[in-house]
Amino acid sequence: MSDLASVLYGEDEIRARVGELGRDITRDYAGRSPVLISVLKGGVVFLSDLFRAIQLPVRIDFMSISSYGAGAEGSGVVRILKDLDQDIGGEDVLVVEDIIDTGLTLSYLLSALRARDPKSLEVCTLLDKSVRRIPPLEIRYRGFDCPDSFVVGYGLDYRERYRNLPFILAVDDQTGLAENPDALAGLLTEGPPGGI
Ligand code: IMP
Ligand code: MG
Repeated sequence: MSDLASVLYGEDEIRARVGELGRDITRDYAGRSPVLISVLKGGVVFLSDLFRAIQLPVRIDFMSISSYGAGAEGSGVVRILKDLDQDIGGEDVLVVEDIIDTGLTLSYLLSALRARDPKSLEVCTLLDKSVRRIPPLEIRYRGFDCPDSFVVGYGLDYRERYRNLPFILAVDDQTGLAENPDALAGLLTEGPPGGI
């Protein structure tokens, strides 16, 4: 199992970094009440820890999106499956993401949100695979600059699995995991490989 994946960010490291981000956001938005927007489903674990680390009267809202089939893959064009419940016109909006890879999805989403005239629009991502970035994106808050490997845990999935792992793993053998998608399930009870 441990030759399939290794720990990239442990539970304590994530908790500490999320706390720091919460303090940064609390300081920067003092006197305001931002709306935190999370994109389902990967972002919800990070959002739930982050917003409890923010000492401001924040609101949260959710969007669900899907890419427009194989033909549009790589364009970042998405279809909104579930829209926000609230109008963000005139609001301070902070998009909370689990991971930004090429940034195509987020770039499209930001232009859709910008069209609704928020007072401000910023991004907070836990992981930034910055080496993969295609469109230029301004990211106000980032947890970790992530290496270019496939990662799972803390909200991030492989075929809908592993979102509830409390740590983040880098998948070292993607072929092996593709052959047996449940191969890492033992870590849910055993804890991280190497006992970190
Ligand atoms: P982008 O448009 O290339 O930035 O795609 C970002 C989305 O791809 C994220 O919101 C994730 O859902 C997914 N994603 C990208 N990299 C990973 C990864 O390493 N593990 C799990 N999901 C990923
Ligand atoms: Mg996502």
